[in-house]
Amino acid sequence: MKQYTVAVVGATGMVGRKMLQVLEERKVPVIELVPFASKRSAGGKIKFNGKEFEIVELTEENVRARKIDFALFSAGASVSKQFAPIFAECGAVVIDNSSQWRMEPNIPLVVPEVNPHAIKKESGIIANPNCSTIQAVVALAPLHRKFGIKRIVYSTYQAVSGAGLSGYNDLADGINGAAPKKFPLPIFGNVLPHIDVFLPNGYTKEEEKMINETRKILGDQTLRITATTVRVPVYYGHSESINIEFKTPVTAKQVREALENTKGIVVMDDTEKGVYPTPRELADRDEVFVGRIRQDESVESGVNLWVVADNIRKGAATNAVQILEHIIAER
Ligand SMILES: NC(=O)c1ccc[n+]([C@@H]2O[C@H](COP(=O)([O-])OP(=O)(O)OC[C@H]3O[C@@H](n4cnc5c(N)ncnc54)[C@H](OP(=O)(O)O)[C@@H]3O)[C@@H](O)[C@H]2O)c1
Repeated sequence: MKQYTVAVVGATGMVGRKMLQVLEERKVPVIELVPFASKRSAGGKIKFNGKEFEIVELTEENVRARKIDFALFSAGASVSKQFAPIFAECGAVVIDNSSQWRMEPNIPLVVPEVNPHAIKKESGIIANPNCSTIQAVVALAPLHRKFGIKRIVYSTYQAVSGAGLSGYNDLADGINGAAPKKFPLPIFGNVLPHIDVFLPNGYTKEEEKMINETRKILGDQTLRITATTVRVPVYYGHSESINIEFKTPVTAKQVREALENTKGIVVMDDTEKGVYPTPRELADRDEVFVGRIRQDESVESGVNLWVVADNIRKGAATNAVQILEHIIAER
């Protein structure tokens, strides 16, 4: 079996570390790992597949000095903007977790269960969607394909780890009374209807990302979508209330059946027995969990869903590694 040189850019971060774990778990054929991070971490060591690898400072010289097959990026948009084209120019396929390239028309935005066909063989950069969008479209894609969705209302409850290590620390330290460093207000004992920056229309950038990325991944610019994204004091796992309006009459039973037959989805929906997905119980899982499937009785054809997934796994690392696996399988 062919083996590959894989770079992880941001290897010391929340997502980067999980990428290394997922690459190991899924036995991706990696012959050589190059863990890139900032100058702060350079020279330190990272363990991967039982071997130690030195963390390399991300500089143009250090990229050009190596022959890299795949580069998994999770070091923020400005790093991706500067370095992803350099990796691509040197022949690597870049799978980028930041928001930098997602809405570029020629860059595929991919969730392997939903739109693997968007991966073009020749493309140097592939974008990994926003964590809250990934879990939503895994649940929505089979429903849109089968029944035709008219309108979506997203309300999210997003974990602090979605804001990286510093977000995680704001909750962990906030419990002991420390002032927040990452979020604008304390997150412990609080909920913040504010993720990423506010835009002139009153939405946040996170909300705009969910709206635009959903349309791009589902390949339907006519979808009517609105979103309210909220940070909650949960370490891992985003939860979403998704209200869907269909073009034709659809029952909750039909929706449940469609979701039960979709790869990557686990339906946990038995309210009589108190069964529904929760982020704490489902942390560190790769699937998308759906519960509370019920008719929206306020419209002609509507259904409500409750969707939970680990934001660092399916929302970031696992999705990126699945894209890499898909490319390897196609070669
Ligand atoms: N957390 C999530 O749920 C999630 C989900 C999807 C996508 N993402 C995206 O993934 C990216 C990283 O998120 P994260 O949560 O892992 O953040 P994080 O925990 O803060 O980690 C950031 C990583 O980027 C590295 N880095 C920062 N500046 C750098 C530079 N100038 N050159 C090289 N490396 C640099 C850091 O290295 P040092 O240790 O050396 O500082 C660290 O490895 C972001 O673009 C984020 O939007 C995150």
